[in-house]
Amino acid sequence: MLGQKEKLFALLGHPVKHSLSPLMHNDQFKRFNLPYYYHAFDVAPKDLKDAVNGMRALGFSGFNVTVPHKVEVMKYIDEIEEDAEKIGAVNTVVYEEGKWVGCNTDGIGYVASLVAETGEALKDYRVLMIGAGGAARAVAVGLARYGVKELVITNRTLSKAEDIVHHLPGEGTYRVLDKKEAEKETPTFDVIINTTSIGMSPSLEETPWTVDPLKPNCLCSDLIYNPRMTKWLKEAREKGARVLNGVGMFVGQGSAAFERWTGIKPDTKRMTEVVHSHLKESSDVNK
Ligand code: ATR
Repeated sequence: MLGQKEKLFALLGHPVKHSLSPLMHNDQFKRFNLPYYYHAFDVAPKDLKDAVNGMRALGFSGFNVTVPHKVEVMKYIDEIEEDAEKIGAVNTVVYEEGKWVGCNTDGIGYVASLVAETGEALKDYRVLMIGAGGAARAVAVGLARYGVKELVITNRTLSKAEDIVHHLPGEGTYRVLDKKEAEKETPTFDVIINTTSIGMSPSLEETPWTVDPLKPNCLCSDLIYNPRMTKWLKEAREKGARVLNGVGMFVGQGSAAFERWTGIKPDTKRMTEVVHSHLKESSDVNK
C-alpha cells in the first residue's frame, strides 16, 4: 500500500533498457523533495493491455509510453486529448478523476526547446521539416499550434507529408515540396529540422540534407540525440549555422510530462545536464 503522498510513475516500452527517462524524472523528484518514483518497464506488445490495467490496479499516477506502444496504447486508456488525437499517438498518460487521460508532449516539448534557442522570433520563421513519420507529425502539430510563418514538409514518400499537412490545426501556411524543389529553396529557410533516422546508427555517415548553401544564421535541428552531433549537424556547424540536437526534444517532452503529473515546472537546465552527462559517459565508454 502506498503512503498518502507517495506516487508511482512508469515508462512502458520495448526495449527500454537504455532509456534516460528514469534518471531524468527521479532526479527531479529528488530535487523537489517529492516521494515519487519512476521506473521503466519492458512490456512486450502482447502484454500492453494487461500492463495498463495492472497500473490502474496498483494505483500508479501516470506513465510515459514509447516505441512500439504509442499508437496501440490509445485502445486501453479512457480519454485522448485533441492534439494526441491529431498526432495519432500518445506518449504521456495522466490519472485524472479516475480516468487514464492520454496526451502527447512530444510536439510542445520540441517547440519549447526550439523557442529556448530562437526566442519569440520563431513566429516569423520559415521552417523546413524533413520526414513525415510519427515524430514529424508531433513536431508539425507543435509548430502549427505555436504558429510559424510557414511550414514546408518534404519526405521520401510525399503522400505522408500531404497527410500531415491535411490534418494540421490552425490557419497557418503549410506546403509540401519534393526533395528537388525543397533543396532549391534551402537557402530561404530560417530553421531546418531533421525528423528522419538518417544520421543515427547504422547510417552514421549519411546526412539527411544539404548544408550548401544555408541561409546565414539558419538553425539546423536534428531530433537525433545519440550520437549527440550527427554528421549533418557537424557539417552545418562548420558552415556557420546554429545547431540543436535531439536532447532538447527529449527534455522538452519529459518536462511537459513532469508538469502534467506534478503541477510543478521542472528545472529543465538540470534535466539537460543529467542527460548530457549520461550521454557523454556512454560515448566515453564506447570509445
Ligand atoms: P519516427 O516514429 O521516428 O518518426 P517513422 O514513423 O518510421 O519513425 O518515420 C521515419 C521517417 O524517416 C519517415 O519520414 C521516413 O520516410 P518514408 O515516409 O518515406 O518512409 C524517413 N526515412 C527513414 N529512412 C530514410 C531514408 N533512408 N531516406 C529517406 N527517408 C528516410
